[in-house]
Amino acid sequence: MAIGYLSGTWLGALTVCRLAGVGDPRLAGSCNPGFSNVLRLHGYRLAMATLAVDAVKGMPVLWLAMWLGLPPWGLGMVGLGVLLGHAYPAWYRFRGGKAVASAFGVMLVLTPWVALCCAALWTLLAWRMRTAALASLASAAMAPLASLWLAPEFVGVVIVFTLLVLGRHALNIRRLGRGDEPGL
Ligand code: G3P
Repeated sequence: MAIGYLSGTWLGALTVCRLAGVGDPRLAGSCNPGFSNVLRLHGYRLAMATLAVDAVKGMPVLWLAMWLGLPPWGLGMVGLGVLLGHAYPAWYRFRGGKAVASAFGVMLVLTPWVALCCAALWTLLAWRMRTAALASLASAAMAPLASLWLAPEFVGVVIVFTLLVLGRHALNIRRLGRGDEPGL
């Protein structure tokens, strides 16, 4: 879990924006260091690179945990470490992202069909509604149901991931309620 946490603290948005020589995504837009805000601020190319880093960063440690033969709950704890590292990185005063892309990457290893269902729903909703947070909230809410059907041994773990992601969207939920959530 600690190694998962450490790998999770690598925030793709910061590395990608720094390498591209563009502004820090924590200082503009929604101020979230993640795919959606990088998309708003700097376009698809950098957003996709951010998504790629955040999704793959937890994979090596999960593969190692699988190779060590950890049971589903143990793998879930490693995955939770990755999400916590992304959401609360010690190096950035515990101010990280909303853990959507990192949850997607972790689930791609642990529960690939659940991850793909969530990604399909996210893409559909983001495309139709043009609101990333709404797509993330709906996908996170659907994940435990999809897991119950497709990967029941991970349902407890997926519920914890969902609660973390929903909690990280508290500000978005408030903005959605007020009707001033920024679009994509
Ligand atoms: O993936 C993060 C998304 O759900 C919300 O991001 O930048 O719109 O607050 P943002």
